[in-house]
Amino acid sequence: MKFETLYWDGDIDGVLVLTDQRKLPNEFVDLKCETTQNVFDAIITLATRGAPAIGVAAAYGVCVHMQTCENCDLPKAVEHLNSGADYLATSRPTAVNLFWALEKMKGVAENFLESNPHETLKQLREKLLVQAKLIEAQDKEMCAAIGDNGLQFIKPNSRILTHCNAGALATAGIGTALAPMYAAKNAGIDFKVYADETRPLLQGARLTAWELSQNEIDVTVVCDNMAGWMMKKEMIDLVIVGADRIAANGDAANKIGTYSLSILAKHHEVPFYVAAPSSTFDLSLESGELIPIEQRGSDEVACFAGVKTAPNEAKVFNPAFDVAPAENITAIITERGVIEFPTKEKIESLMK
Ligand code: MRU
Repeated sequence: MKFETLYWDGDIDGVLVLTDQRKLPNEFVDLKCETTQNVFDAIITLATRGAPAIGVAAAYGVCVHMQTCENCDLPKAVEHLNSGADYLATSRPTAVNLFWALEKMKGVAENFLESNPHETLKQLREKLLVQAKLIEAQDKEMCAAIGDNGLQFIKPNSRILTHCNAGALATAGIGTALAPMYAAKNAGIDFKVYADETRPLLQGARLTAWELSQNEIDVTVVCDNMAGWMMKKEMIDLVIVGADRIAANGDAANKIGTYSLSILAKHHEVPFYVAAPSSTFDLSLESGELIPIEQRGSDEVACFAGVKTAPNEAKVFNPAFDVAPAENITAIITERGVIEFPTKEKIESLMK
């Protein structure tokens, strides 16, 4: 990969450095997060985004937060950590990786307090940094394994449609939906990618097209409303998307528009794959009906590049995600293996 989406710079007193994705594709600039508020703002404004990347950023956010607990005793430090983690958890509601990562960070502190009550705050902060780095490293590994497991679905000259950005910019590694594409490129397979532009924030046009071009993969940007016609014209062989949260029955939440795409794919008999790591599964939710869907501000829909495109009198509806039902999903590609025609039983047996 020719860029780093996010990394920790320094020791326990270091900073979280993110690629500011609001500026892509025109500018590639780093954003330094030196306070809890900086990390929260980076997540809520989508400077960093994508389910796994949000989780990694939040884990490092806890390390940043602990820098402001200079003279705390250990019980106080754990309280301080919990309140910071709870605050970061309010940044975005849909991607479960955020809560997954924050729970892991909280778990480290609780265990530390229980087993090392006489150790120092510095040692706790070192443990927390080790955990955050582990979350980042595991994410990298999971992405690579998703790539290996998904490679089988990309045949020579495949034409792949993807939605939003579930690539390197959305993870610490090579992405989820885009991981099989990077694996195919490495294997010398020729294929082409259509990237839905992904209204309203254009993650497909701005981010997916940018990162695939950076890596010399043939990419064509299309408007979201072109997918049906392209399938009808037999221009698409398969769809691969990422996920923000997958319920116990296999229903998968992803960027708004994914639901329609899953119906179009089913209607046209185009295989529809969801690629996601185990940290994206939420087995506590029976079905996708229970996945919280983030509602975002009206300007994202009623303005384009800072120019108003709808009258002030018009109301705006802006759900950031929707849910592709399991029955429309050909397979879920995970780091542990592929779940074909996902059911509760198959998911349970792979994830337990
Ligand atoms: O609002 P975003 O840009 O965070 O939405 C991202 C997506 O919907 C991705 O497809 C999903 O998080 C998977 S990222 C590997």
